[in-house]
Amino acid sequence: MHLFEPSEKIPKHLAIIMDGNGRWAQENKLSRSKGHKKGVETASKMAELCIKHNIPSLTLFAFGQENWQRPSKEIRYLFRLFLLSLKKQVHWLNNHQIRLTILGERQSLPASLREAIIEAEQLTAHNTKLRLNIACNYSGQWDINQAVNSWVGNNQTGNWQDYLSLASQENPDLFIRTSGVYRLSNFILWEMAYTELYFTPVMWPAFTEEDFVLALKFFNQTERRFGKTSTQVKQQEANMSC
Ligand code: FPP
Repeated sequence: MHLFEPSEKIPKHLAIIMDGNGRWAQENKLSRSKGHKKGVETASKMAELCIKHNIPSLTLFAFGQENWQRPSKEIRYLFRLFLLSLKKQVHWLNNHQIRLTILGERQSLPASLREAIIEAEQLTAHNTKLRLNIACNYSGQWDINQAVNSWVGNNQTGNWQDYLSLASQENPDLFIRTSGVYRLSNFILWEMAYTELYFTPVMWPAFTEEDFVLALKFFNQTERRFGKTSTQVKQQEANMSC
């Protein structure tokens, strides 16, 4: 599908809240588990689409720290699904030159999942086609807190922001949330100060390449001013093209 011209402005880092697995399942008379399973398939498809559209970084919110409040049966299912998906897909990730990083607090995750994460991160560490970050037991406030604590613990060496989970990566420039919900839900906070926000009513399991291209078109039409006036930005662009 070539609905989007490769010459147009594309995000360098896309961050997504993959919302609506449960409601999609309900609408299709399926169990919530089936919704999550389909959600994982959409996530893999998204990684492929980022490569296809030359987007170098993708961050997916898989499990927020507030999600511990869900029924324990669903939490156990999600962690089992993450573990199975990781084991099943690690070679696929590697073959696609994808570097996987997991963001978030790890000690509270099941030991088997922690081990699989380390193995997958090590195996894919030198890949350069796509940087895939999966936020699991992550929250933006937790990240700011751990960064400040690490900075203090390290005798305030450098700036506290250097200790954020995404410190070595570009800030997200496009954010997508599916399922018609308009909030950030404690996802990346500090680094999304100037991110373009895109919301779609489509449920995550039903999110297709057409929906993805619509989000890219939205991004292409935004004027990224970073506090400047529109005239200044246009002048800057004109100077750069001279
Ligand atoms: C949102 O739907 C999804 C989650 C909170 C968690 C899990 C995400 C996946 C299984 C997709 C991809 C996973 C990986 C490992 C890349 P919801 O349960 O909040 O849906 P609802 O709002 O309709 O109930």
